[in-house]
Amino acid sequence: CGIVGYVGGQSALDVVVAGLKRLEYRGYDSAGVAVLADGGLASARKAGKLVNLEKVLVEQPLPSGPAGIGHTRWATHGGPTDANAHPHLDNSGRVAVVHNGIIENFAALRAELAGRGHHLGSETDTEAVSHLLAEAFSACGDLAEAMRQVCRRLEGAFTLVAVHADEPDVVVGARRNSPLVVGVGDGEAFLASDVAAFIAHTRAAIELGQDQVVELRRDGGSEGGREGGRVGVSVTDFSGAPAEVRSYHVDWDASAAEKGGYASFMLKEIAEQPRAVADTLLGRVDAEGVLTLDEVRIPDAVLREADKVVIIACGTAFHAGLIAKYAIEHWTRLPCEVELASEFRYRDPILDPRTLVVAISQSGETMDTLMALRHAREQGARVLAICNTNGSTIPRESDAVLYTHAGPEVAVASTKAFLTQLVACYLVALYLAQRRDAKWGDEIGDVVRDLARVPDAIERVLADMEPVRDLARSLKEKETVLFLGRHVGYPVALEGALKLKELAYMHAEGFAAGELKHGPIALVEDDLPVVVVVPSPRGRSVLHGKIVSNIQEIRARGARTIVIAEEGDEEVAPYADHLIRIPVVPTLLQPLVATVPLQVFACELATARGNEVDQPRNLAKSVTVE
Ligand code: G6P
Repeated sequence: CGIVGYVGGQSALDVVVAGLKRLEYRGYDSAGVAVLADGGLASARKAGKLVNLEKVLVEQPLPSGPAGIGHTRWATHGGPTDANAHPHLDNSGRVAVVHNGIIENFAALRAELAGRGHHLGSETDTEAVSHLLAEAFSACGDLAEAMRQVCRRLEGAFTLVAVHADEPDVVVGARRNSPLVVGVGDGEAFLASDVAAFIAHTRAAIELGQDQVVELRRDGGSEGGREGGRVGVSVTDFSGAPAEVRSYHVDWDASAAEKGGYASFMLKEIAEQPRAVADTLLGRVDAEGVLTLDEVRIPDAVLREADKVVIIACGTAFHAGLIAKYAIEHWTRLPCEVELASEFRYRDPILDPRTLVVAISQSGETMDTLMALRHAREQGARVLAICNTNGSTIPRESDAVLYTHAGPEVAVASTKAFLTQLVACYLVALYLAQRRDAKWGDEIGDVVRDLARVPDAIERVLADMEPVRDLARSLKEKETVLFLGRHVGYPVALEGALKLKELAYMHAEGFAAGELKHGPIALVEDDLPVVVVVPSPRGRSVLHGKIVSNIQEIRARGARTIVIAEEGDEEVAPYADHLIRIPVVPTLLQPLVATVPLQVFACELATARGNEVDQPRNLAKSVTVE
């Protein structure tokens, strides 16, 4: 879910709605706002995307006031209906609350409130909080204090932001696990799930820690106009003791969060990949060829003694991890396991201080990954994060960090973040190789030079995508597409299938090409489109020969083969019904170019089927619940 709060001289409603637009990628099942104005509280909420709420606000405008909150929801408790949309008000209608996360003891709290005569109208866990806050406020008369008292009673993960009509210049937020950042402007302040909501207004941000409550209080009166008011920001822990906070400057460009002439964010982000890859490589290797990470709180001795690498991630980031395994094992000779973060901690994994865990997450807030990371650290393992979001929870809780410099990724289906995660994984592998054994020196230089050529190679792939788009459109009536690959091409096949599922809502599956004959080949029938990612014929030619045979096997059974193969690979050409060429790059780096046509393919096929590519149904970009 996405959350926004504002207090200052502008119309809170306008600022909050504009902020929600920037956060809609976090969930778009319903949206709502509440503003403090004329001594009271006014709110509106609506199921569906933000545009539905905007229509309501045109038909029934809310009064203008200096403080307000808003929410865009990814449904957990209760379906995506008007009644379950946030904000939630208490019975008096003077308290409004928005919430991201899950309150695990909500059933007990609801029962307790019902016992005291409260009437709860929705099925959500959030509504209980608004009632508890109203009760606590009537006793203490201070919203921040009321919030602290309530938070001490809540179990689970939550970000809460609340307003009370009796404190018309105050917005209060609380954070446990789910993200919340403060934006500090001139005579105004913001609360949001991420900085995208306020970078149009200010670049000065404050990171909130675990179990902290923040109060934004505007002094100097509503008459003061934009210049007149001063907004104080105070942060405490849940017991009320002042908390230390970290201020930082947001260096993302506000225009990076705009579509800039593209039909969708996804198309823009696909096009930005050469730049994103180049930016992620920038400044990582010094003149002597020594690699650096952003923050390393792991002594070299520990890296030298590590005996195993475990990668944890979800979704697309998991696919980056699967590819990383090939590079890490090849370059470091350390065994590497890759596991879905949601499965990891529940199977009692074997971890100790010699295990190096790599957590990959674009948002840095995915709850499954965060919980897996915490479990690993509790067992004494060191954690290195690969993340795209500065100041987010996963890098903060890790022992070392390598940031991917993809810039803000808005489309829900990940593209440029994925490629930069791959680059970061290669760098981590090389870094480990370097720290563990100096004899790798020369080869590291070669790989770094090969990586530096990848942005151009991606550029060339992007320049020749029209045939891929034509092909995608021609397949729009199909029900199933299969994806095959070997070696690093196997995770690429999985990612190609995931993109198609996410965007085109088609049945798409990725298989290891060698595994096909052990079952999945039964799916092949006449004219079934099968995408095959072909390894380079150079070096690992055994693999190449094998996949050429696999292509013949499926073609013999009627499949329509869509072959992604290196320029100059003539051996495979006769077996391709459609041939997509990619530039020659070293085998381990091939996913950086081979994934790109699959992204374009999925995006175009989804568009041809009438789907909205930036916000696919049922999904959210940042999933902050387990
Ligand atoms: C969500 C998104 C996926 C993403 C996954 C992991 O499910 O829809 O596109 O790959 O989360 O996100 P992260 O931010 O941890 O990389």
